[in-house]
Amino acid sequence: MKITLSVLKADVGGFVGHSHSHPDILKKAREMLEEAKNDNKIIDFYVTACGDDLELIITHNKGIENKEVHGIAWSIFTETSKLAKELKLYGAGQDILKTTFSGNLRGLGPGVAEMEFEERESEPVIIFMADKTEPGAFSLPLYKMFGDAFNTPGLVIDPNMRGGFSFDVHDVKKHRHVWLHLPEEMYKLLGLIGTVGRYEIKSVIRREDNEIAAVTSTERLNLIAGKYVGKDDPVLIVRAQHGFPDVGEILEPFAIPHFVAGWNRGSHNGPLMPVPQRYANTSRFDGPPRIIALGFQLNNGKLEGPVDMFDDPAFDDARRQAIEMANYIRRNGTFQPHRLEEDEMEYTKITAVEKELEEAKRFEKL
Ligand code: F6R
Ligand code: MG
Ligand code: MG
Repeated sequence: MKITLSVLKADVGGFVGHSHSHPDILKKAREMLEEAKNDNKIIDFYVTACGDDLELIITHNKGIENKEVHGIAWSIFTETSKLAKELKLYGAGQDILKTTFSGNLRGLGPGVAEMEFEERESEPVIIFMADKTEPGAFSLPLYKMFGDAFNTPGLVIDPNMRGGFSFDVHDVKKHRHVWLHLPEEMYKLLGLIGTVGRYEIKSVIRREDNEIAAVTSTERLNLIAGKYVGKDDPVLIVRAQHGFPDVGEILEPFAIPHFVAGWNRGSHNGPLMPVPQRYANTSRFDGPPRIIALGFQLNNGKLEGPVDMFDDPAFDDARRQAIEMANYIRRNGTFQPHRLEEDEMEYTKITAVEKELEEAKRFEKL
């Protein structure tokens, strides 16, 4: 049976500030999806939050970019935004950048990651959801999962993976994309995706049979809105086991935290801290950037789960290291490389400093 797994998300309002989500918002989203399920419009759903982001995990058999499914999500995001306004939550309706829905969530503000596949005899999937960072945060872990045999011995051991994986790399600045094929184009891939704010991995497929393996949300709010409206707090779906990296290989990259862009005011580099669901809320310096991993087994589209994959002492040291990295980089205050590079700051209010000085004719020729 062909199943579509859609993860659709938006920041519809924070509680308190940009830190958590309000329980009434999650309740409302659950009620609306329960209704869609009872009407047989979808197969199953799971609603959660990562920080101030409302996450809708939906299964159905209508394919990706489906008007009806996107329409359901759109009405949930608009209704919960209304509720957020009533509750006077912070930044109510933050990610709802456009007012009219014309059949697809893309370009309207919410983040979208979807894949359609024939459900295998057993279909384990891991859904990652992050707050206070951007889709480029997934490039390093995706490379490790699908390209680095030191992370994923399955690339060497499992004959179904030995053919390698292809990566669809999006250039979000020039609106173009390129497919790169590993292992032979590994250095080209690394050459591009090291520029995290510009190149993002949209999806990964298995070369042998073009089977979809992973997909991310790559929506860029700032590029849509033309100004800073929060980071693009991304989601990632990965299929696991038997010809794909196993669950442990998928989680392994997060055992060594890496620096990602986002954190306070979407303007700082900081460590990506893997946390269980109960800690998926930001605090210190509006962070540090966090990621949760929920595991499900699909059962004819029904979501068996979730299992909270980072709720394990095996990730305690990663969390400790992330805090140590945070302590270290915080010393730099408003200086790079803690603060982001100039072109990443272009949608924030900081550009007004230069403009103000220019307008006051304070700059003199050297
Ligand atoms: C980052 C984020 C927060 C806000 C910050 C300022 O993605 O959501 O760090 O940028 O709290 O928020 P405003 O500008 O709404 O006061
Ligand atoms: Mg927010
Ligand atoms: Mg957020």
